[in-house]
Amino acid sequence: MSTQPIGIFDSGIGGTSIFKEIKALLPNEHTIYLADSFNAPYGNKTKREIIDLSIKNTELLIKKKCKLIVVACNTATTNAITTLRESYDIPFIGIEPAIKPAALSTQTKAIGILATKGTLSSELFHKTTDLYSDGIKVIEQVGEGIVALIEEGKTNSEEMKSLLKTYLKPMIEADIDYLVLGCTHYPYLIPLLLDMLPKHVKIIDSGQAVARQTKAVLEQRQLLNTTSTQGDNQFFSNGTIDVLNDILDGKYKVQYLKF
Ligand code: DGL
Repeated sequence: MSTQPIGIFDSGIGGTSIFKEIKALLPNEHTIYLADSFNAPYGNKTKREIIDLSIKNTELLIKKKCKLIVVACNTATTNAITTLRESYDIPFIGIEPAIKPAALSTQTKAIGILATKGTLSSELFHKTTDLYSDGIKVIEQVGEGIVALIEEGKTNSEEMKSLLKTYLKPMIEADIDYLVLGCTHYPYLIPLLLDMLPKHVKIIDSGQAVARQTKAVLEQRQLLNTTSTQGDNQFFSNGTIDVLNDILDGKYKVQYLKF
């Protein structure tokens, strides 16, 4: 049993999609969320830069006494989680594009994956894709510009719609029946995506799986918070706090912090 908080970090506000799943499954846990919006997007940075930023975020969360860290960013997970696990004793939960369930379920033998350049070019992503993509067409698409627009609060803008239209076109032409969202910012695009994709296309993201894995690891290590009161959830951003506040519907305490 541990009342210490769960730490969560992302390059910005996208990891709140993971926070919401964790909150739904583990309402009594305290959480501390770091939005590294000042350094967003991570997707076009080098592996070394992504590792250094992930270390910076991890050290702050450890200083804030977190018992487990959720790397709520596909780009940071696929580029840095191995180094983090080798460098620190506390458990890390990562998020990777859900290629496996899509590849196992596709009927059209074509799936789409939308993610950052950093994720799609990572070794970890290639390993997983190679493992499950035998006989399946995987249409990879870098979501260039998407994270920046979401960070600016322009999720439903005309600019976003036109980017998505361009990115989805080759996938629709290839007759995909699954679209994998490989970035924690993208679940906020689901209403737009559903409007643009043919009705039979299913969208998969890994948010709930990450929450379940977080719970399982806390149980295994006897770190679950078993008190019966609602957890306290704190949010820190080193960018504009308004956008983070909006995405959380003003429900939580959001503070500016330089880190
Ligand atoms: N939320 C991050 C991810 O899951 C966004 C990466 C970025 O900042 O480019 O990959």
